[in-house]
Amino acid sequence: MNFKVKNKSLVLATTNLGKFKEFSRLLSDFPLDLLSPPNGWNCEETGVTFQENARIKASSMANFSGFWSLADDSGLMVDQLGGKPGVYSSRYAKSDQERVTKILKELGNKINRSAKFVAAICIASKEEILLEVHGVCEGYITFTPRGKFGFGYDPIFQPLGQELTFAEMNNETKNLFSHRGKALELLKPELSRILNLNSTSWSN
Ligand code: IMP
Repeated sequence: MNFKVKNKSLVLATTNLGKFKEFSRLLSDFPLDLLSPPNGWNCEETGVTFQENARIKASSMANFSGFWSLADDSGLMVDQLGGKPGVYSSRYAKSDQERVTKILKELGNKINRSAKFVAAICIASKEEILLEVHGVCEGYITFTPRGKFGFGYDPIFQPLGQELTFAEMNNETKNLFSHRGKALELLKPELSRILNLNSTSWSN
């Protein structure tokens, strides 16, 4: 007998087309109808952690739309700068280039350059938080920017044990190490769980 699983609607709470495509690709095997944010949605990221911001955005969108909603939040934390830029990563200076320059200037010639990227993902319904995962990528800040791929702080971030910065890697290689790649891998079994699916079917 063939059972047809009914699709569940899930709003992706992001206005970033790149992120929308990345999540759509990853979630394509799941019985989900993925929806873009409805017009008029606006949400302030007032949290002090990535997890909090992901939760705020997912809940806000679920309340606004009435559907399950997925949101993420991510950023860079530099040890010598007390964890900055952290949740302010996208607002640390006006452009990607200025943000990179600012970090390099603040670190100067300091030898301890350890840092990490963090990504948090949350799925919420109107009533409750359904799922939360996060991924971390440890590494360090280079002395000068290297590479032309990627975005944000990629040219100055070198993952632990690697010789290349994120900006010197193609997308596929970066995702093997990246905070977002790790969070997305954790997302699949958790999503199977809340959809009541057999997790072995979604392990790839
Ligand atoms: P958000 O998750 O869209 O709020 O983005 C946070 C900010 O963190 C981005 O604008 C980037 O500056 C930075 N960021 C997050 N993930 C990455 C990454 O993989 N590479 C470089 N910068 C990143």
